[in-house]
Amino acid sequence: MYKKLFTPGPTNVKEDVLQKIATSMISHRTKEASKLQKDISNKMKILMYTKNGILLSSSSACGLMEGAIRSCTQKRAAVFSCGVFGNEWYQMAITNNIPCDKFEVEWGKPITKEIVKSALDSGKYDLIAVTHNETSTGIMNPIKEIAEVVKNYSEVVFCLDTVSSLGGVKIEVDNLGVDICLASTQKCLALPPGFSLCSISEKAIEAAKKVKFRGSYFDLLRLYNWVKEKDYQYPSTPSLSHMFALDYQLDKIFREGLENRFARHIEVANYVRNWAKNNFALFAEEKYASNTVTCVKNIKSIDVDELNKALGEKGYIISNGLEKIKNKTFRIGHMGEATLSNLKELISAINRILKF
Ligand SMILES: Cc1ncc(COP(=O)(O)O)c(C=O)c1O
Repeated sequence: MYKKLFTPGPTNVKEDVLQKIATSMISHRTKEASKLQKDISNKMKILMYTKNGILLSSSSACGLMEGAIRSCTQKRAAVFSCGVFGNEWYQMAITNNIPCDKFEVEWGKPITKEIVKSALDSGKYDLIAVTHNETSTGIMNPIKEIAEVVKNYSEVVFCLDTVSSLGGVKIEVDNLGVDICLASTQKCLALPPGFSLCSISEKAIEAAKKVKFRGSYFDLLRLYNWVKEKDYQYPSTPSLSHMFALDYQLDKIFREGLENRFARHIEVANYVRNWAKNNFALFAEEKYASNTVTCVKNIKSIDVDELNKALGEKGYIISNGLEKIKNKTFRIGHMGEATLSNLKELISAINRILKF
């Protein structure tokens, strides 16, 4: 049975967008493919508020996360973590033998500008990695404040994970001074998983030129050079099917209007957050609660698997907590195509099941 997804990715994909995946295949070494890749890149620049180059990757975002930290760290990286995905970025550095330190805050709390400043003041780091929206804890970090701090350290390459926020929350890459901003397609962009993209600044490219062992498949410098010198082509065969759908979906996103889209995410988030506060509690410190996912503190110790089973019979699915907060929390995704009316539908189903 088809279940409407209220998970924080993958999210629901509209039927007309899914149809684009079924577009007849073209050769990737054609002008047609170059045009598709160029069009998507230009549209992504609008969505990301940037003039930087865009790289498309036929992988989920973890590939680009690994590529970013590996390709651009010359001296030492600092990863700021407030949950599962920040920790994942740190692991990627360690397992690639990249000198790296992790600054982890208590889960449910944000990464603050003070933590970032104190790390950067040490002068040890030339790359930092920050998660904008930590999907495991429902925290949306105060990125403008953090960015203001980072601007004072001109040697530092600023990498930002916007996997669960880009397309749902305004991320002004150039104003923030972000060097590598990355996201995947299965969250706020409301496309199938398995594809991702990033913006990349000249500063990040210059840093990568000085790194000897950047790997191969996710060598961001190599990808950048291909795009630049070979008319938006990529070294390996890309997922053209994703690209047909992404190109189409970006036009739909612009037709909705970026400001309208961001406002819709805020409206839906407020609704879910209020329900969570009235019936449970928020896991995230409220001031930093995410506009795309709500992590609910399970203070009533409900059996989330049982809830999901009952929801499944009605055609819905939500998410359990992750890792050390697995049974202490559950998560409701409200990103991508989420609307107030379909969240109201979900919440009333939960209320009926839990007899609220
Ligand atoms: C904040 C965040 N970062 C990174 C990732 C990893 O992205 P992907 O699964 O597309 O590799 C996720 C996935 O859920 C995420 O939520």
